[in-house]
Amino acid sequence: MKAINVGLIGIGTVGGGTFTVLQRNAEEITRRAGRPIRITVVADKNLELAQKITGGQVTGGQVSNGKCRITDDAFSVVNDPEVDIVVELIGGYGVAKELVLKAIANGKHVVTANKALLATHGNEIFKAAQDRGVMVAFEAAVAGGIPIIKALREGLTANRIEWIAGIINGTTNFILSEMRDKGLSFDTVLKEAQRLGYAEADPTFDIEGVDAAHKITILSALAFGIPMQFDKAYIEGISKLDAIDIKYAEQLGYRIKLLGITKRTPEGVELRVHPTLIPSKRLIANVEGAMNAVLVQGDAVGATLYYGKGAGAEPTASAVIADLVDVTRMHTADPEHRVPHLAFQPNAMADLKILTMDEVQTSYYLRLRVADKPGVLADITRILADEQISIDAVIQKEPGEGETQTDLIMLTHQTREKRINAAIAKIEALGVVAGKVTKLRLEELGK
Ligand code: HSE
Repeated sequence: MKAINVGLIGIGTVGGGTFTVLQRNAEEITRRAGRPIRITVVADKNLELAQKITGGQVTGGQVSNGKCRITDDAFSVVNDPEVDIVVELIGGYGVAKELVLKAIANGKHVVTANKALLATHGNEIFKAAQDRGVMVAFEAAVAGGIPIIKALREGLTANRIEWIAGIINGTTNFILSEMRDKGLSFDTVLKEAQRLGYAEADPTFDIEGVDAAHKITILSALAFGIPMQFDKAYIEGISKLDAIDIKYAEQLGYRIKLLGITKRTPEGVELRVHPTLIPSKRLIANVEGAMNAVLVQGDAVGATLYYGKGAGAEPTASAVIADLVDVTRMHTADPEHRVPHLAFQPNAMADLKILTMDEVQTSYYLRLRVADKPGVLADITRILADEQISIDAVIQKEPGEGETQTDLIMLTHQTREKRINAAIAKIEALGVVAGKVTKLRLEELGK
């Protein structure tokens, strides 16, 4: 049967992995897809790298290996009449957006790993694809090799999704695991992670939670059938996390993970990324190092957990190629019979509001530096009671040798963020409380 032709834009880590796995497993993949999937053109600024990976030869400024054309002009790929599917692996929102929209306008299907692009411009891109009758597939955009997009778009389609909580950034999970294991500070572990290649030279998007926010924005849209609303996500990273809180959390039976959380509530949808205490006994609390995991609560199925590598050449290629096979199978199908891009029919999207952080309800961990004398705890608990905040647990540390102050750690039951903030402002104004109160959010991740 006639091969389907793929134009690959970007042959870095994931592009290289895609090329390699497609070649290595060509026979199996063809048996699954029903026809060969052939990369006919590769675009990359680094022609030498492209030549090395594809084994091509340079001829007249272009490289060719007889099967696959190599170019540094990505637009020649999206304009190539021979290409059926464009794989965009360059990332970012600039040229990548232009290339994706041009490919769609030219009637080509698109496979992309670009979470930043989809979280910020996905609504425009999916609308363009819908109008043109082409598919935009993005399994590799969230949690690398874990088929979480497939699970949400198809496997869990019977369910009313209630919430999703995910460890969807490997860099930060690696850092948090190291901080806990070795009792080291954030800065020390970050440097080590950069040395080992786990963290980028500029790690901002990862450590400040932006990458996780892109991913949870995409999962939220799929779970609830709402547009992408990255601009409404609450984002807090791990760069200010103190190792002492990891230690205290552990003593209370919790681990701290950077979670992407999205939850349906009667008032609207919660969409947030922040360091979160979760009970150590939960499976997801034991996801260590650079691994990813996503926990999905559906009304019929209950909790399901998806675990695996969230990055890397071949794990991410696994997701890219799964999309290529899907698109190949559905290429000739009537667009109406394909799985909708965001799991829900485009004319049946919900208009649910994304809640501000003030409106979010969760539990809290508070760490206070207080004078060790009578009445202090009473003053603090009075303030919490006035804000209708119920206390779940309190521990007071022994003051150090010769110290008159000590650490007080409190866990609260669920309350609204605006209530805890109001209480914290009053607590910080007490003369017996030194400095700022450390506030972390806590999720039981039970039902
Ligand atoms: N930078 C991401 C991470 C991988 O650390 O998980 C790509 O999404």
